[in-house]
Amino acid sequence: MIDLHCHLLPGIDDGAGDLATALDMARMAVADGITHAVLTPHLHGGRWDNRAAEVKGHCEAFARALTEHDIPLEVSYSAEVRIGPEILSWIPAGDIRFLGSWEGRKVLLLELPHGQIPPGSDKLTGWLLNNGIQPMIAHPERNKFVLRDLAAIEPFVEQGCLLQVTAGSVAGGFGEPARERAIELLARNWVTILASDAHSSQWRPPVLSEGREAASAVVGEDQAWQLVHGRPWKIAEQHFEAA
Ligand SMILES: [Fe+2]
Repeated sequence: MIDLHCHLLPGIDDGAGDLATALDMARMAVADGITHAVLTPHLHGGRWDNRAAEVKGHCEAFARALTEHDIPLEVSYSAEVRIGPEILSWIPAGDIRFLGSWEGRKVLLLELPHGQIPPGSDKLTGWLLNNGIQPMIAHPERNKFVLRDLAAIEPFVEQGCLLQVTAGSVAGGFGEPARERAIELLARNWVTILASDAHSSQWRPPVLSEGREAASAVVGEDQAWQLVHGRPWKIAEQHFEAA
């Protein structure tokens, strides 16, 4: 399986706190059947300043540590980008490394705040789409507005945004309301990929299999594999070919 959203890089956001934890998480990912991971630290104006040039060095160091510890996980890097006006300057400056590509557009993993969908969000996603960039909205099933009303995400789907649902949400790890939303999104065929959004080895682990199995009850086994293998590979293949 291929994980396109996880916070394994140690010490640069609220994910793995140190290298030992990051290596433990990588071992868990491998044990779960994950072979490739695109590491996506937060890039969040005023909070997490993880621009591409710095993250590259962190990723290279982590890849060396994986090799030294005989952990067979192929890694590359991108970012989970918090929605905000900074995006308009980060993109031309090359501060964002994209998650991959989708139908000729570069994919940007876009995070909405948990508590709301800020007014104007659809303007930004529309601007991105018009400029050759494919927004993929991270874990909409955990957003408060979407938890209140599934219709809150519909304009983004109609506009052409992709959705990444967290595997743990489908498996019930984020509570029943998030699980129900995840299932509804799957049933509507609105989910492009599942990803772990792993932050630790305990509370939010790098595990996709449970979510894939739960999703297969909704979309069937073939489609469930598409969510964790076929589509993520199609999106991010270029990261690993270039490696
Ligand atoms: Fe995340």
